Amino acid sequence: MKNILVIGSTGQIGSELTHKLREIYGGSHVVAGYIPGAEPKGALAEGGPSAVADVTDGEQLAAVVAEHGVDTIYNLAALLSVVAEQKPRLAWKIGIDGLWNVLEVARERQCAVFTPSSIGSFGPNTPHELTPQDTIQRPRTIYGVSKVTTELLSDYYYQKYGVDTRSVRFPGLISYVTPPGGGTTDYAVDIFYAAVRGERFVCPIAEGTRMDMMYMPDGLRAAISLMEADPTRLRHRNGFNVTAMSFAPENIYAQIKRRVPTFEMEYRVDPLKQAIAESWPDSLDDSCAREEWGWRPEYGIAAMTRDMLEKLTARLAS
Ligand code: SER
Repeated sequence: MKNILVIGSTGQIGSELTHKLREIYGGSHVVAGYIPGAEPKGALAEGGPSAVADVTDGEQLAAVVAEHGVDTIYNLAALLSVVAEQKPRLAWKIGIDGLWNVLEVARERQCAVFTPSSIGSFGPNTPHELTPQDTIQRPRTIYGVSKVTTELLSDYYYQKYGVDTRSVRFPGLISYVTPPGGGTTDYAVDIFYAAVRGERFVCPIAEGTRMDMMYMPDGLRAAISLMEADPTRLRHRNGFNVTAMSFAPENIYAQIKRRVPTFEMEYRVDPLKQAIAESWPDSLDDSCAREEWGWRPEYGIAAMTRDMLEKLTARLAS
């Protein structure tokens, strides 16, 4: 039986991943790691153990891993791309110094480690259409620099010490539970809040700018099924391209408008977000993930839009 630590359990991914892992492995086997000020509440606090697990404090991490007999770590601590540009030193401290601490604990206590990479690990000179698994990664954001380093350092710990590190390059994740904060793909979540609240949406990304996206249930499945995958089939480790859909603002607007006919959108492009978006792929080729561990997304743009509108409407009404 696995004993799992989720670092960042109250964040955008962690708040849903922790529940999913508890459904699969049992509540008592999944520790919700958090930093002071972001304590688990409600079902997250009640569904199993929790512990302070700050990636910048290696000794504390080691103590939590020892106390709970942890053998698998989902390391979700990170700043997203836009906020990282404003706080590059902090982004590095959390993303890379923190990862170092996680990998050291994993090496000492034989833990498997999942640390997300991102479409942000690519840059302007990466092929933008059907971006291959193995290609140029020269990002110009600190977020991207830290994600490429995450991939390299994770591979290094696997090759040098045999630490079972695995990762996916997440696209923009869309969810009705915990909103993202400070990312370039956030607009694809914010647009749903505006639609459900009956507000006009001001889009910070220009018409025609395509990026890969994924509905959170697929994102959770990607992480968990990669960690469950037969290691003998993995030719790659950190990290796999995964995608579910690729769209530009006008595409998601049209999908929502079909179901909310009064919904209106205007563009007011944010230069920083736009520059980042343009440097990222338009669509990923995720065939290696499909071949090596059977990755298949379940939600395309229409199914995701339908479910998001339904679930977010119910959530905001309650
Ligand atoms: N969602 C992230 C961001 O926009 C990309 O991985 O920063």
